[in-house]
Amino acid sequence: MLNSKKNWWMNSVIYQIYPRSFQDSNGDGIGDLRGIISRLDYLKKLGIDAIWLSPVYSSPQDDNGYDISDYRGIDPVFGTLKDMEELISSAKALGIRIIMDLVLNHTSDEHQWFIEARKSLFNPWHDYYVWRDGKEGSPPNSMKAAFGGSAWEWVPEIGQYYFHQFSLKQPDLNWNNPQLRRELYDMILWWMDKGVGGFRLDVIDQIAKEPDQMITMNGSKLHSFIREMSEETFQKGDLVTVGEAWGANVENAKLYSNPDGSELSMVFQFEHCTLDQKVDGKKWDLAPLDFMALKRIFSKWQIALHETGWNSLFWNNHDLPRIVSRWGNDGVYRIHSAKMLATLLHGLQGTPYIYQGEELGMTNVKFSSISSYRDIETVNMFKERKEKGFSEDDIMKSIHAKSRDNGRTPMQWDKGQYAGFTTGTPWIPVNPNYEKINAALQTRDPDSIFNYYKKLISLRKEYDIFVEGAYSLLMPEDPQVFAYERKCLGKKLTVICNFFENEAYIENSADISDMALLLCNYGEAEPLKKLRPYEARMYYTDRDSHAL
Ligand code: GLC
Ligand code: CA
Repeated sequence: MLNSKKNWWMNSVIYQIYPRSFQDSNGDGIGDLRGIISRLDYLKKLGIDAIWLSPVYSSPQDDNGYDISDYRGIDPVFGTLKDMEELISSAKALGIRIIMDLVLNHTSDEHQWFIEARKSLFNPWHDYYVWRDGKEGSPPNSMKAAFGGSAWEWVPEIGQYYFHQFSLKQPDLNWNNPQLRRELYDMILWWMDKGVGGFRLDVIDQIAKEPDQMITMNGSKLHSFIREMSEETFQKGDLVTVGEAWGANVENAKLYSNPDGSELSMVFQFEHCTLDQKVDGKKWDLAPLDFMALKRIFSKWQIALHETGWNSLFWNNHDLPRIVSRWGNDGVYRIHSAKMLATLLHGLQGTPYIYQGEELGMTNVKFSSISSYRDIETVNMFKERKEKGFSEDDIMKSIHAKSRDNGRTPMQWDKGQYAGFTTGTPWIPVNPNYEKINAALQTRDPDSIFNYYKKLISLRKEYDIFVEGAYSLLMPEDPQVFAYERKCLGKKLTVICNFFENEAYIENSADISDMALLLCNYGEAEPLKKLRPYEARMYYTDRDSHAL
């Protein structure tokens, strides 16, 4: 059995901050490190253990910092290295660790390595990136970049194409080059020396690309690269390491998160996030959520990784729309559905993530014009689909449902101007609902979503069944209720959620006799024959005669 005492991150809850949108301290309209420092008390109150910080390194900000031009520098829009050191130590004083976002698949085209690399074929840094000759005046093959257009960009001065899986300004690194790998490891060790608590590894499944084979994810050398990196760096400290992997499946997830510690602490995979798009379509090709598939997929991961790996539990991040708008209800049932979604997720095995504002039930935004959107993926998709003849209405519908900017509008602190985020003009407009949905209101309301999350976090600390219990799905055929139990050494936790707006009638429900009600999003629970809209309950016993 996994030893939760050894791995602090197993009963931890991680809070993700998107620095640009969290808190501005100097009135330039962009969130920054001093802003985060000023809000640490809020996070302490919530009870989280660690902060995952989206990138704050030097960057031209083509992809909001996921295009790094100096891994050892802090971008002036966010502050200075001194501010970063202060954030690490102030957080530490509150028992909060800082997890840095490591983007190792690519750099910015303004990184010194790339500036050198594109000078000549014989430059010592040339081989740090992925270059190919063209084929009769065209790119080497038809591979496409995630943010639109070809994945190959021509550099006329040297007569070669470089490979980029994301924007033009994000050239892919060549992990086959041992010297490049060494430089990356040295940089990681340098950050470890600064006292960071861990790393989130951006698109880690894409570092071992094999473009000649048209392979981006899960290249044949992927796990040997990760093992080498882990041995040279992470294993020298008591860190949490999280691998972002859209290409993960339950089999390779056991490698990424092998309990022997040879790779990473956990995998951050997205299988559930693709359940509301057309089969064979992109995320923009909207379809209703396949709820039965959601039950199936969560259950598959829970069972497959039990004692053989470790998963991240999340609904949201900076690339995803707001869950309460996506699969909850951001109208009359906003509060109940936000709490239901939280209950369902936090009862599972794995490490829960809360994305800034999720604990307030922040919603998607519907800007009427494309000019209010900032995200490179959204803006490029708008252009591309217009050219292909999609109607503007259809495109905006997809953007309102799925744009990454839904999660990037400023954090809603209070009902003051710009929601208390900035005294200047915010880099992206504030969601107009900030007067009703904000932290100031919720921290003082005992029934708020904020205080419900706080309760869920404290339950995870109090009961070890959250870390250890073995999962089984209850009522698998029920088209409306998501219910499951977790069992371990005579202890049992049962979670029952009505995922929809209609009342749910339960006939042969879970056996909750002799169990204590830990939590209900309606306060008091009624007999378990009927669940109210989006009702969620959590029950517990430590005297379960049937549990192993
Ligand atoms: C990851 C990040 C995303 C970024 C991309 C390229 O998916 O989460 O925000 O655009 O990688 O770095
Ligand atoms: Ca600022």
